[in-house]
Amino acid sequence: MSEHERNLSLESDSVCASGRAGARPTSGLRPSASVVEARGLTKIYGTQRAVSSIDFSVKRGETFGLLGPNGAGKSTTMRMIACRTPLTSGELLVEDLDVRTHGRQVRSLIGVVPQDNNLDPDLNVVRNLVVYASYYRIPKKQATERADELLHFIGMSERAGARIDHLSGGMKRRLMIARALLHEPKLLVLDEPTTGLDPQVRQEIWQKLEELRRVSGVTILLSTHYMEEAEKLCERLVVIDHGKILARSATRVICRYAQQVTVSARSCVTTRIIISPPTLKFLRR
Ligand SMILES: Nc1ncnc2c1ncn2[C@@H]1O[C@H](COP(=O)(O)OP(=O)(O)OP(=O)(O)O)[C@@H](O)[C@H]1O
Ligand SMILES: [Mg+2]
Repeated sequence: MSEHERNLSLESDSVCASGRAGARPTSGLRPSASVVEARGLTKIYGTQRAVSSIDFSVKRGETFGLLGPNGAGKSTTMRMIACRTPLTSGELLVEDLDVRTHGRQVRSLIGVVPQDNNLDPDLNVVRNLVVYASYYRIPKKQATERADELLHFIGMSERAGARIDHLSGGMKRRLMIARALLHEPKLLVLDEPTTGLDPQVRQEIWQKLEELRRVSGVTILLSTHYMEEAEKLCERLVVIDHGKILARSATRVICRYAQQVTVSARSCVTTRIIISPPTLKFLRR
């Protein structure tokens, strides 16, 4: 087992696949309308309030967005949902399960595409999928079939034997999406799925995500810097900055009132979402 495999193994802690192991919400027989419920969710690193008492819910079957600039707290929020970092305070439920006490079950229900590439460079494309499937205890034959199916879905069947460092940025991102879908998660968490990709590749990934939602009905939570991406993919979103929610609404409402500006300071280029104070008051309700 390579160093990378060991790390992934620790990260996913050999959880069982949701569709197979049957992790079920503990409360009630009918699944609740919300897949994620966050109340007063807070994460403090030292003296830094990365996420500051935020509330939101993600409804079953929707695509929900966290829209915000660098350092807003998007990845930290996603890491708490994926049980990769503990909450400082507040409440966070995934499929009615408390992430603090049911981490293992929650991880089995979620597919995560992190912001940075963490594919294993020592394994080829298909082995990246098959080895990852073993952390979810998916039998080998089934894992191979599922890997083939997903490579077909992302249009990479021809590249099954390719090395990871021979793939383009867009291919790596598509492969990470496929890997997150191996265990048929109920919730797909995508941390900036298209940042750093050129416009054409971004369009291709948008198309795949739309198709995925149409075909599988999976609930999607994604973070993005781009208003255009939020507008294209999300039904509802929250605008987040400095760890706080600035506005929440249907995407079309936010996009009508908000403006995205690019700020350059020295060699650093960032984007900010600007919403006028009266509109903010209206959108904060
Ligand atoms: N492990 C950590 N230790 C200390 N501070 C951290 C850690 N992770 C994140 N932070 C801080 O928390 C804040 C939120 O970071 P986070 O990565 O969640 O932002 P983000 O919205 O994902 O930004 P980006 O768009 O750049 O990815 C930042 O100020 C960041 O420096
Ligand atoms: Mg981030």
